[in-house]
Amino acid sequence: MLKKLSESIKRNPVIGWGIFTVVMVGVFLLGLLAASITERRAEIATLYANKKIEITGINAKNEEWGLNYPREYDTWKKTKNMDFRSKHLGNMTEDVLESRPEMVVLWAGYAFSRDYSAPRGHMFAIEDVSHTLRTGTPDGETQDMQPSTCWACKSPDVPRMMQEKGLEEFYKASWSEHGCEIVNPIGCADCHDPQTMNLTITRPALIEAFERQGKKIEDATPQEMRSLVCAQCHVEYYFQGDGKYLTFPWDGGMTVEAMEEYFDNSNYADWTHTLSRAPMLKAQHPDYELFLLGPHAQRGLGCADCHMPYKAEGGIKYSDHQIVSPLKNISSTCQTCHRDSEDNLRKYVYEYQDKALEIRDRIEIELTKAHIMAKAAWDNGATEAEMQQALQLIRQAQWRWDFAVASHGGSFHAPVETQRILAHSLDRSMQAQLELQKTLFALGVREVTMPDVSTKAKAQEYIGLDMKKLRDDKDNWIKTTLPTWVEKAKAEGKIASNS
Ligand code: HEC
Ligand code: HEC
Ligand code: HEC
Ligand code: HEC
Repeated sequence: MLKKLSESIKRNPVIGWGIFTVVMVGVFLLGLLAASITERRAEIATLYANKKIEITGINAKNEEWGLNYPREYDTWKKTKNMDFRSKHLGNMTEDVLESRPEMVVLWAGYAFSRDYSAPRGHMFAIEDVSHTLRTGTPDGETQDMQPSTCWACKSPDVPRMMQEKGLEEFYKASWSEHGCEIVNPIGCADCHDPQTMNLTITRPALIEAFERQGKKIEDATPQEMRSLVCAQCHVEYYFQGDGKYLTFPWDGGMTVEAMEEYFDNSNYADWTHTLSRAPMLKAQHPDYELFLLGPHAQRGLGCADCHMPYKAEGGIKYSDHQIVSPLKNISSTCQTCHRDSEDNLRKYVYEYQDKALEIRDRIEIELTKAHIMAKAAWDNGATEAEMQQALQLIRQAQWRWDFAVASHGGSFHAPVETQRILAHSLDRSMQAQLELQKTLFALGVREVTMPDVSTKAKAQEYIGLDMKKLRDDKDNWIKTTLPTWVEKAKAEGKIASNS
């Protein structure tokens, strides 16, 4: 056989060259295959090498996710930074009651009159809710001021505990009952499915609100999810009934009027104002609802487009997880779409904000006056019937003011809607004063002297708060009770050991 072949090649050399070519092509193809296998192996190897640990279930320890996704983790950690101030916002704390003491009077009888600071980065969520005077000093002897529901927007330990205890049990517990369980700040497991890393909704209140509106969260597009993960927390909500069940008041719609009607229909009040005795509503932070009514949402943008811009590192594109004011980095936020200069873009934002704040400041003065006039009317013997209309106007005015102001980004997210809401608030504040003026006149009261509430301390004294005692008790609690929560969480392995 071989002899025959060599004879044939001798007779006709083309056959030899043919075989040579076939062999060479074969070798080349084999080489390609080998190369491709090695490359693929290398890819898989990098994937496995990068994914250092397997994450299953609801893992609240951000540090462990960080082992697999170092870029996202490293940028997420920067939500601890306090290094940016724009004209009105930024990632630092600001004692809002100090700069706008009228708010103390507006919230008389409600915990916010004690203490209210501007929000900062997600990393501070646990620290801030523990340190604020609004959560009091629960220690077994002193009662809780807040239910466990108050933890709902603070930590990935929340979905973990909801799963462990059951939803209703979780909500109706006291705040302090979960003090040594809820210990990791807002993080990966709040927004991501650990297996697929897809965005996911971990807060049942959002899913339930969708269902009551006849919508399904599973139908949301990936782009909508880039807002909905934020809408788990940055929304209007209330604690329903004795079980303190976290509920979004969206059944009749998501505008300020639709939500007011929802509350009115069930005669709901968050508290009774101690001066005016009006049945008050506290707006939380309807960032998502207001955003939907603005120009950017209407063009299909999501929260992440401005608050989590893409970054590139060695050819790898990833989302910046330092959620912060987009003005901190205009070139990677606004300028991905707008050609204007940084200065112009910043100016647009400031102009919208300044115009809204102009009206806001007027409301805070006039609405404070209305509360104080109502107190004078009661003090001079006004009847429930005489007061009813004025108190309703005060409730409506303050709901609108709070709605527009508590959504800190609202004046940029939806400038026209925010301005509209503020205008209605100012209108109702003045109408309330008119009503009260009539009642006071009928009671023979010619003039109501306004107290000096020009500083936080004076305003708090006026509404009858013993701030020194509240502060001392809290400081003491922070030194004694709080560390025992942290120690217990550490001992039980609830906080990652490398944190
Ligand atoms: C689990 C609840 C939760 C989720 C989910 C959440 N946030 Fe927050 N966010 C908070 C809380 C609470 C604070 C205030 C923290 C503090 O001041 O201690 C906050 C603060 C902020 C701030 C202010 C930061 C600063 O530097 O002043 C921005 C901006 C923000 N969030 C945007 C977003 C965006 C955008 C999303 C979605 C991608 C989102 N948040 C998702 C709860 C949440
Ligand atoms: C407040 C919600 C939120 C939190 C908290 C959060 N992420 Fe994300 N993450 C997002 C959004 C939004 C995207 C963009 C997803 C998209 O466009 O589909 C994203 C994308 C990602 C991606 C895909 C690649 C990329 O960067 O776009 C990874 C991986 C990731 N996140 C890891 C993490 C890790 C690790 C943590 C915790 C340290 C974390 N995320 C915390 C909202 C969040
Ligand atoms: C088109 C860009 C853009 C989009 C999209 C956007 N924001 Fe904003 N957001 C801003 C700007 C600009 C500010 C004002 C920042 C400043 O003044 O420093 C802001 C402010 C905020 C603040 C207040 C921050 C603080 O320091 O108190 C929060 C909270 C916030 N946005 C949440 C959201 C949420 C939630 C969404 C989605 C529902 C969203 N934003 C969508 C641009 C955007
Ligand atoms: C992902 C793209 C995108 C990003 C990021 C973005 N914008 Fe826009 N912006 C738009 C689009 C689209 C419109 C609507 C344009 C139109 O109708 O002509 C718009 C409209 C505006 C308008 C006019 C609003 C109105 O009332 O019609 C202003 C002002 C503006 N953007 C400022 C900003 C600023 C400031 C930032 C950064 C904080 C920003 N945008 C980020 C896409 C974006």
